[in-house]
Amino acid sequence: MEDKEEFLKEFGDYYGYPNGPKTIDEIRATEFKRLEDTVYLDHAGATLYSELQMESIFKDLTTSVYGNPHSQSDSSSATSNIVREARQQVLDYCNASPKDYKCIFTSGATAALKLIGENFPWSCQSTFMYTMENHNSVLGIREYALNQGAAAFAVDIKEAVDQDGASINSVTSVKLSQYPVQRRNEAEVLEGELTGDAYNLFAFPSECNFSGLRFSLDLVNNVKQNTEKILEGSPYSKGRWMVIIDAAKGFATKPPNLSLYPADFVVISFYKLFGYPTGLGALIIKNDAAKLLKKTYFSGGTVSASIADIDFVRRRESVEENFEDGSISFLSIASICHGFKIFNNLTPAAMHRHTMSIVMFLKKKLLALRHENGASVCTLYGNHTLKVSSSDSGSIVSFNVKRPDGSWFGYREVEKLASLSGIQLRTGCFCNPGACAKYLGLSHSDLLSNLEAGHVCWDDKDVINGKPTGAVRVSFGYMSTYEDAKKFIDFIRSSFVSMPSEFEKGYLLRANSVPYPTEGFENRLSSSGCYLKSITIYPIKSCAGFSVKSWPLSTTGLQYDREWLLKSLTGEILTQKKVPEMSLINTFINLNQKMLSVESPRCEGKLQIKLDSDSYLCGKEEFYLHSQRKEYKTIKYGLIFIYEQQYGNMHKCETLFKKRYEVQCYENEINQWFSNAVGQPCTLVRCCHSQYYLSLNKNRSMGMCRDVDSRMNFANEAQFLLISEESVSDLNDRLCSNTQKLSGGAPLYVKPMRFRPNLVISGGEPYAEDGWRNLKIGNTYFTSLGGCNRCQMINFYHQTGQVKKTNEPLATLASYRRVKGKILFGILLRYDPVNGPGLDAHSWLKVGEEVYPNSE
Ligand SMILES: Cc1ncc(COP(=O)(O)O)c(C=O)c1O
Repeated sequence: MEDKEEFLKEFGDYYGYPNGPKTIDEIRATEFKRLEDTVYLDHAGATLYSELQMESIFKDLTTSVYGNPHSQSDSSSATSNIVREARQQVLDYCNASPKDYKCIFTSGATAALKLIGENFPWSCQSTFMYTMENHNSVLGIREYALNQGAAAFAVDIKEAVDQDGASINSVTSVKLSQYPVQRRNEAEVLEGELTGDAYNLFAFPSECNFSGLRFSLDLVNNVKQNTEKILEGSPYSKGRWMVIIDAAKGFATKPPNLSLYPADFVVISFYKLFGYPTGLGALIIKNDAAKLLKKTYFSGGTVSASIADIDFVRRRESVEENFEDGSISFLSIASICHGFKIFNNLTPAAMHRHTMSIVMFLKKKLLALRHENGASVCTLYGNHTLKVSSSDSGSIVSFNVKRPDGSWFGYREVEKLASLSGIQLRTGCFCNPGACAKYLGLSHSDLLSNLEAGHVCWDDKDVINGKPTGAVRVSFGYMSTYEDAKKFIDFIRSSFVSMPSEFEKGYLLRANSVPYPTEGFENRLSSSGCYLKSITIYPIKSCAGFSVKSWPLSTTGLQYDREWLLKSLTGEILTQKKVPEMSLINTFINLNQKMLSVESPRCEGKLQIKLDSDSYLCGKEEFYLHSQRKEYKTIKYGLIFIYEQQYGNMHKCETLFKKRYEVQCYENEINQWFSNAVGQPCTLVRCCHSQYYLSLNKNRSMGMCRDVDSRMNFANEAQFLLISEESVSDLNDRLCSNTQKLSGGAPLYVKPMRFRPNLVISGGEPYAEDGWRNLKIGNTYFTSLGGCNRCQMINFYHQTGQVKKTNEPLATLASYRRVKGKILFGILLRYDPVNGPGLDAHSWLKVGEEVYPNSE
């Protein structure tokens, strides 16, 4: 709390609505009770609705009768009245006189931008100019402009400075620096031919959704009145300029005052203002701009009359009725007055001061974070003004995190770990490619080669060729608190400032090392003091397994392991991640009777499926799965070693594989049983053949498969997963001390089976298995493929017949078992038959057998 006192000393005048109707702590305690265990930091993505707001919406909708407004009834009039009031509230919020402006409801800011682009009077004399920092939804307007032969270019805003370097604060102090002009080839227009009687369009965001930079609204008057001057005599400055303010991000705390900055178009989305409703936005449009838009389509709602069998239509006269096609989203529109009530009570200026005090505090703390060697931890993007009174910065902090050696942590790693700590944030380029390229210093060739490397928006490729492809963004809303920011700083400090470097340096993520035991290998095996404690087989992917004292091996690993899977009717493979109830389906195989038995708490009878009978089979199918392997190769002792991390002089390669499965299908009765068990229609299939192919299609979604050489059924990465009891016991010690330190609650304890291992070993040192290259259990040889990358699946547990989830043990594992964004626990193995594949397929593994590892 000392920290909070320090914070309040600096920001107390701005933070927490000191003169408002409620303090921030009261707002959080009464209106955002659901945020108790969550730190929500994606208000730029979508802010949150208050619980009181929703109560009053519910009351309004359940006590009023709102009919379709395109009629004369009382219920229709009730709707028309509420819609009229809503339009007025939107106009009032940005001080727009209804004499000059109209409010057209749309499905969002994007739809409003599309409406402008689609209907703007483009000609080959027109220009579309936009700031580099713009959302894709603004950039899309370029397509209409270029298609109609217009020119388009991006600009950077340069503030003019006086001779001493201080900025000159006058209306015409702004200069625009122009990026190259784009035109579609067929529409070449010589610059000298630009006559200047065309309509041009300029678009800028009131707040950049990447960096939080707030653009000066002086740009509106500058562009409309002084384009020649600010474009420094460019031939494209001629003509009549119209201006769009993309206020999707900035509207909440910086509504443009349209009486001072008379933009022609302002676009907004209401969920960005007060969280609810989604699917509703508005285009605030100047009357004379509305007259210029040339709308082609007519529809119910926008015509006064039309005749069905001849080319006759009379459109409605009013601006709103001409542009709002179909029935407007009137119940959503009825809801917005309840959001505006909050805003008018708190006031946008106080909300701005409140969020800025948190932003400034966070920026200061992140900039001050240092690694042990003095290197800074966070690189922040955008404006570094640290004054709350500054009006050129909004409620966003964007940054990336560096290791002590200056290399970047991937932003996805930050996002995944944040989520384990209950922190919700956003990563990537936030649909703002211009700002992203500008702040991260990505050239066109970087962007194109990233695309070549398979990177697309929203994927996991966060660092390519040593450069981040996006950033981490945290953003605040009117209900955010000091405590939210503090928890976030603590999270960055504990997860990224002091890393367990020993583990990180020494660990190999082997992909595919020594093919088969060779001469001399036997001599390198040593007794570990470990023995095989249990063997578990999981016949149906993602369902429960069963443990045995001994079990036969086949060329695919443990016989029958992951030989079956469940597919949805659309072909999606069902796993516990999406269908946690699968873990409640128990399985057992009786080798003597050659029978698979399946039980589920949701199904009455036990299902019995004969293993070698065709009676249940209904034909064959095939399907493909894609996987990717990135590897570093080196040759030692005449053998090829493949690693996932680079060490010394290695050759890097990335290989894409496509795996083709040939599967057998089952009759309806069996599929119905499984559909009941998982609560959704699905079918059971059995693998009868699988084969890897090289895949050339880089843009498909891909999983990582470590073992693409040996035969496997439906296991994700490798034939076997081995877990050590000693490692689990060390993890339990840490879980116990973490839970008691953090919550003082009952110690958490996980059993080895939580990790879905095939083999559990007992004895030896914790994590000794990390360093094993090969091993022998009894008389059976295995190759280690390295650590198993753990995901949220290990956080599921069963309680009173239900599947529940916490953030443990993954959160604790993340604190000490992280390597390059992966959280490793247990090792993956491949079976190496002594006489080569297929020749000694009749070996058995037995519980109690000794384990002999080779770590060389
Ligand atoms: C600055 C900006 N403009 C436009 C949009 C698009 O808004 P919507 O998806 O609500 O239409 C967004 C959404 O993130 C935004 O932040």
